[in-house]
This record gives sequence, C-alpha cells and structure tokens, in this order.
Amino acid sequence: MKIFNRRVIAYAPGKCILLGEHAVVYGYPAIAVGISLYSQCRISKVDSNRIELNLIDFKKKFESNNIDNLISLLKKQFPQLARGLQIFSDLVDEQIKDISIGISSSLLSGSGLGSSASIAVAFASAFNEFYGLSLDKTKISDIAYEMEKMVHGTPSGIDNTTCTFGNIIYFKNKKFEMLRIPSDLKLLITYTGIHHRTSDAINKIRKLRENNLELIDRILSDIGFLVERAKNVIQNNELEKLGELMNINQGLLAALGVSNSVISVINQIALNNGAFGSKLTGAGLGGCVVSLGKDVLNIAKVLSDNGFQNFILDIENRGAWVEHE
Ligand code: PMV
Repeated sequence: MKIFNRRVIAYAPGKCILLGEHAVVYGYPAIAVGISLYSQCRISKVDSNRIELNLIDFKKKFESNNIDNLISLLKKQFPQLARGLQIFSDLVDEQIKDISIGISSSLLSGSGLGSSASIAVAFASAFNEFYGLSLDKTKISDIAYEMEKMVHGTPSGIDNTTCTFGNIIYFKNKKFEMLRIPSDLKLLITYTGIHHRTSDAINKIRKLRENNLELIDRILSDIGFLVERAKNVIQNNELEKLGELMNINQGLLAALGVSNSVISVINQIALNNGAFGSKLTGAGLGGCVVSLGKDVLNIAKVLSDNGFQNFILDIENRGAWVEHE
C-alpha cells in the first residue's frame, strides 16, 4: 500500500457524561458531550528503518525495527496502544516501519474526562489517515473501543463514541443519536484533585449489586428513567430542568457509593452560588464534577477561591479530525 501522507496529526476531544454513567454499563441510556480539551497523535515518515513511539506526557520513548517487538514492549505498561498497533498492523498491507508516532493529551488521566478513549480515537484516526485506509468514523470508534477494552474490561462504549463524534449524544447499548446542543450551554468542570480508577468504581457497584440485586437494579433503572426525561428537556433547551435532573442523578450515584465528601463540597459550593445542577462525571470516587448555570464565571471564581481547579468548556461539535503538515 502506498503511503500518501508524510505527516498527519489527528485530534480527538475528551468527553463529559452529563447523565447516566454506570447505569449505561447495564444497558440504560446516558447523555454525554464532546469537550474542548483534546488528545493528539502525530505520525511522521522517517528514514530510520524503525518505528518510534513517543509518549510525550509520560516522558517515555519506545522504538524498534520490528512492529511485533514494539507491540511486546508496550503490552505490559500500555496494553491499549499495543492493541492499537496490532489492529493496524493487520489492516495495513505493508510492514509498518519508518514512522515516528507522538502522542499527547491535555486531558488529565483518571479524571473522568475520557483521556484514554480520546487518545485511542486520535491514534486510530492518525493511522487511518497516514496509511490512506478510508475507514469511516464508526470504524474508528470501533477500533478505539477494542483498545479501551484492554484497560477497562467491558466499557459501555460511550467514551469512544463521544470522543469520535463529539457533539451531544444520547447513547444506549452501543447505539447513539445526536441531540440538538442547547444554546448557552457552558460546562463548568471542577477537578476534585483525586485520581480515580474506573475499574474500582465499576467493581464497587458490581459488588453492591450482587448483595442487593433488586434494590440496585431499581436505582439503575431510575437513572435510566431520568436520562429519558433529560433527553426531552435538552431538546426543549430547558437548562434549569436539566440541572435539576443532574442533581437527582448525583443523589442516585451517591446511593450507589461512587460519590465522596470532596464531590459533595464542590456540589454545594456550585449550588450555593447559582448552579442549576452539579454532579460527578465519569466513574466517580474522585475525578471531576460538572456543573451548569447561568453565571458559570462567578461559580468558577468561588470554586477557585476555595482551592478547586476548574475549567469552563464548550461542547466540541466536530468530534475527531485530522490535519496534514
Ligand atoms: O472512565 P470514566 O471515568 O470516563 O467513566 C466511564 C463511564 C462509566 O459509565 C463509569 C463506564 C462506562 O464504560 O461507561
């Protein structure tokens, strides 16, 4: 196969789940948005007869003159990237070599903003473009899902879908539809300062459910019910009502055991300062909190005064994209 591009850079947004995390793993719907923080993967042609992989945020460099060797080197520490390389070495006709790959992300890992899915989507988009494979976005998202499975077991698929397509999406059982982005929707994302592991939160709920099957299934189903409501509320551009549903969702997530005292403090500060709604986003047990309101600048300032790092973000409606250099 002919290499058409000497250098490509692919970008993929992070994601923020507005409602429905965890319940989405059990087949209920969830709503998520692409956010204006990105991961990028750059692939350049080099004449070194090698494959180089530079993980800029980790300050780590791997290289080999053989793709299978490189995959073995990555397997333990970066199984997601090893899987990605394996998939593309099967898809590309020629031997993968003479390339330098650079990966970086402005998304903090373990913060619930989809850093690993965003990296996987950028990686798959860059390989697709560099080797002229013409895969569509659905296929890119599927490959990112395969990569995600290496770190998250059985993810629902909402992260890779949102990081690929961006926008605001209603997601259920690996299918999704785009909703209309409400006007004036600004997301205030606040970091708890606590790094979380998605698998810890998922396992915690799984155990709780094993011991209290009917009760936990009711809570999961209530979350699904409120997501259906939220879908209409979003289509009608009713941000205050959306905030109310987020607060209820936060209460149900706390009942499932994935909230904590820092998340509660952030929720209270946001709500006391005019937020319509405030809840954890992603797996919980730390990570980030998402709040909505009319005057998010003021809420952000109060949160900063209380020592909480925060960002006001827009919805990224392009999803992943590629540029040539
Ligand atoms: O990994 P996080 O923090 O972005 O959370 C992912 C959302 C979950 O619903 C908890 C898991 C999933 O696969 O949907």
